[in-house]
Amino acid sequence: KFYQNFIKDDHWKYIADGLKVTLQVTFFAVIIGIVLGFLVAIIRSTYDKTGKLKILNVICKVYLTVIRGTPVVVQLLIIYFGIFASVDISKVLVAIMAFGLNSGAYVAEIFRSGIMSIDNGQFEAGRSLGFNYVQTMIHIIMPQAFKNVLPALGNEFIVLLKETSVSGYIALQDLTKGGDIIRSRTYDAMFPLVAVALVYLVMVMIFTKLVNILERRLRNSDH
Ligand code: ARG
Repeated sequence: KFYQNFIKDDHWKYIADGLKVTLQVTFFAVIIGIVLGFLVAIIRSTYDKTGKLKILNVICKVYLTVIRGTPVVVQLLIIYFGIFASVDISKVLVAIMAFGLNSGAYVAEIFRSGIMSIDNGQFEAGRSLGFNYVQTMIHIIMPQAFKNVLPALGNEFIVLLKETSVSGYIALQDLTKGGDIIRSRTYDAMFPLVAVALVYLVMVMIFTKLVNILERRLRNSDH
């Protein structure tokens, strides 16, 4: 009977529309996170290796500490109700900014550990080939570092996808909120929420598979 209502009363639309929002937020937040994380990692490693970019390095450190030291839900609430309190801005955009800003901090540390995982001899090899610092980074360090961080990066994407489920705190109708609205309208909690859980699970499983395939390809290109 519940299933019939699910179809007849268009309840599934809350799931479908919510899924669209969840995918949108995750996709753009991941892009922001990677760009931001990359920049921060470069600044931090450049400071570590050469002692340059001192002030930028301090700014990056503050960013990493604050973002990783506070819950992402609180950051989301501060951005929506605090920073954009008197601005008419789309909730999707706020969520993208909040999760992108948040992810950037975690991605930065992933990239940085990837760069640090490359033996310093590789760096010296680049310099002795006549490459300058930037060329060495781009042609020798980055390609190897990327391969090393790919699993961690894939994991970050999965964490972010699931983390966007707190978007309901600013009344954004994402996948989770969609399921919860159905719950409140039908007084049936189990069916809609398990349906939501399954949708997340399938997405994570598909993505995990894709990352594994990419990983294997990169590893094979080694030989
Ligand atoms: N749930 C944790 C928090 O609220 C993790 C945040 C997101 N983590 C991430 N890797 N983007 O702080």
